[in-house]
Amino acid sequence: MNIQPAPAHYRATADLLHDKTILVTGAGDGIGKAAALTFAAHGATVILLGRTESKLDAVYDEIESAGHPKPAVVVMDLASVTEEQCLHLAQGLADEFGRLDGLLHNASVLGERRPVESATYAAWQEVMQVNVNAQFLLTRHLLPLLQASPSASVVFTSSGVGRAGRAFWGAYAVSKFATEGFMQVLSSELENTSNIRVNCINPGATNTSMRNAAYPAEPPTNNPSPNEIMGVYLYLMGDDSAGVTGVSFDAQ
Ligand SMILES: NC(=O)c1ccc[n+]([C@@H]2O[C@H](COP(=O)([O-])OP(=O)(O)OC[C@H]3O[C@@H](n4cnc5c(N)ncnc54)[C@H](OP(=O)(O)O)[C@@H]3O)[C@@H](O)[C@H]2O)c1
Repeated sequence: MNIQPAPAHYRATADLLHDKTILVTGAGDGIGKAAALTFAAHGATVILLGRTESKLDAVYDEIESAGHPKPAVVVMDLASVTEEQCLHLAQGLADEFGRLDGLLHNASVLGERRPVESATYAAWQEVMQVNVNAQFLLTRHLLPLLQASPSASVVFTSSGVGRAGRAFWGAYAVSKFATEGFMQVLSSELENTSNIRVNCINPGATNTSMRNAAYPAEPPTNNPSPNEIMGVYLYLMGDDSAGVTGVSFDAQ
């Protein structure tokens, strides 16, 4: 596994993502929301995908009122997404934008935190569906649009427990190992045949609802906010990372 720290002292130019169209999953909250707002502030047209329309609309309004490029909202529940819905999404994006320059797989669910011996199959399946299967479906059907870009970036979201398993992290940890594996497979397939680079980011402990659910006794202020870890997200989405592929970055 090729693990690297976030590039030190990286400073994105204000127009780094000018003219780029980037889809962010889980864009209504937490790290995905910060990424969507940050990409838009650097000139990208952002497609905000998530399951809670009111949260996506709030991000849309924030981007629009800041005067950034007009985003788009896609309400999609990744726990039940079908191949037909992904095909429909790809067709809609092809009609409207013609290509995709960036895809940030960020949406995930934590699932149950308990020993394998008492884990439930329903919770296991939901985690694998949202964190792994939906990533496959979206990637599979958005690849032609990414191939239409002169320089595209696919970024997966990993975790420390996706590199070393830990007791009671169950399906979530296994799904993040799968995410690291999917990134490596896809990167290796595309490395010499396309303009698409494929990498992972492990955000590290970050102050979001998911972190608070995993560590309810921890003071939220112990960890950086999503806005404070955006450097490596910008680096990977912009062309400063051209040629970088197959790497799992630590945001912190
Ligand atoms: N925060 C950390 O410390 C940390 C550490 C390591 C890795 N990560 C990873 O970083 C990523 C972002 O995490 P976060 O902390 O920002 O989590 P979060 O605050 O819980 O946000 C997750 C986002 O994913 C969306 N989502 C969940 N299930 C979905 C579904 N079925 N369909 C569509 N969207 C769905 C959520 O939508 P709603 O807003 O509608 O619920 C939310 O917008 C995840 O991949 C997570 O595993 C986080």
